Amino acid sequence: MTLDAQMRRKLIAAAREAAARAYCPYSNYPVGAALLTRDGRIVTGCNIENVSFGLTLCAERVALVKAVSEGLCGFAALAVVGGEQTAAAPCGACRQMLAEFCTPEMPVYYARLTGGRCVATTLDALLPRAFLKN
Ligand code: THU
Repeated sequence: MTLDAQMRRKLIAAAREAAARAYCPYSNYPVGAALLTRDGRIVTGCNIENVSFGLTLCAERVALVKAVSEGLCGFAALAVVGGEQTAAAPCGACRQMLAEFCTPEMPVYYARLTGGRCVATTLDALLPRAFLKN
């Protein structure tokens, strides 16, 4: 189920607010994510880098683990913002993590950090034939 335009704008705006809190002194590439639960709650995340680069946490996974650890599940949509010229789509690792907790049909919206059009897709389109045990 796609979101109505107003809700989509709200979710993108929440992702942009989260991106403003990104800790990214090494890449200078802020990313924000906002997950909408089916009961209407919004859980946000931003990328959090570390001097030991491999420990960096992506915005999407921060939002996801915040939600799951708070007992929230049943996700209706995800918005991601990042990039100045090109909109950042979720990385492969985040796609796999999302596939564990979200339905393949879940809408994913991604957009540049500021302005521009938002790309609308689904988790299944981003990660077809995901590895799942059940
Ligand atoms: N990043 C995310 O937060 N999400 C993604 O899906 C891709 C990459 C972050 C990680 C790193 O802090 C910065 O973007 C540059 O790669």
